[in-house]
Amino acid sequence: MSWLITIAVLVLIGFILDREIYFYEGAHLGPRVQSWLYDRWSKKYDAGKRESQLRDSEMLVQPLLDVLKNVSEPFVLDFATGTGRLSYALTSHPDFKGRIIALDFSQGMLEQAASKLTRASSSEQNGAARRAPLSAKVDERVELLRHLSLPLPFPDATFDVVCALEVLELFPNMEEPLAEFSRVLRPGGILLTSRGTEESGRKAKVKSKSDFGLLLTKNDFANFQIAPWWKLFDRVITIKNGSSHPVGGRKLTDVMLCAVCEQTQWERKASTLRCKSCGKEMPVTKEGIVLN
Ligand SMILES: C[S@@+](CC[C@H](N)C(=O)[O-])C[C@H]1O[C@@H](n2cnc3c(N)ncnc32)[C@H](O)[C@@H]1O
Ligand SMILES: [Zn+2]
Repeated sequence: MSWLITIAVLVLIGFILDREIYFYEGAHLGPRVQSWLYDRWSKKYDAGKRESQLRDSEMLVQPLLDVLKNVSEPFVLDFATGTGRLSYALTSHPDFKGRIIALDFSQGMLEQAASKLTRASSSEQNGAARRAPLSAKVDERVELLRHLSLPLPFPDATFDVVCALEVLELFPNMEEPLAEFSRVLRPGGILLTSRGTEESGRKAKVKSKSDFGLLLTKNDFANFQIAPWWKLFDRVITIKNGSSHPVGGRKLTDVMLCAVCEQTQWERKASTLRCKSCGKEMPVTKEGIVLN
């Protein structure tokens, strides 16, 4: 009898782990476990997404540039950049003249992004992504930042655009990230995000269009457009209420809050960033990832 109970307990544990890890992608296990899971998945991540990534320019970049017509050099936060698909698509577009901070909590995913964003001179000519040697440099318009959890390390109204694709479902509660995106966007800034579709079959993570709209409204967003993107996600573009001048292309060293003294002035030393005010140092990896 006791072996029956043991088997039943093992099956139950297996079921719970499978659900928590593969279905919820660690959403209830905290950012340390979640980022560790993404580190493990990072090298194979793009293989499963190739089809939708082929249309990133048409489905994501062009609609975003259309709403940014009056912002010549947008300053973009690519939150949960993953393997850098959006940063890559944006910087590959001839009309994009801005700068990007690409943030993720998984160093493994950021290393894949660094590789994708590193263009050797021959690949620049034909515009193709290429795995370049790591001694070559990541596109200078993109800065990579590993940051483990919310709140985001930026003052209010720092960005013209926040992008957060395929990530809201990974939070136990979508309000928390949406409130942060709203805080770091300037009034009139743009949020490009995604909504899990009913078709995705992942009902526990799906918010209906009207509930999603209510969440946006509650977090100070207006004029939202929810449009079909690909099977698992709709594309959502919305504007933060109010208006203000574009912030323009800034650098990480001008906007990142120091965790010790809350100042935003850093100097670059060989492989660290150093807070000019309190001396706190943050390592920078050989791929150029700032480790917060
Ligand atoms: C499904 S992938 C999407 C990646 C990318 N946005 C895309 O569309 O390809 C989710 C990404 O979110 C990151 N992520 C999840 N929760 C995060 C958090 N709280 N802070 C930073 N990154 C997070 C993961 O490491 C992973 O790279
Ligand atoms: Zn400091």
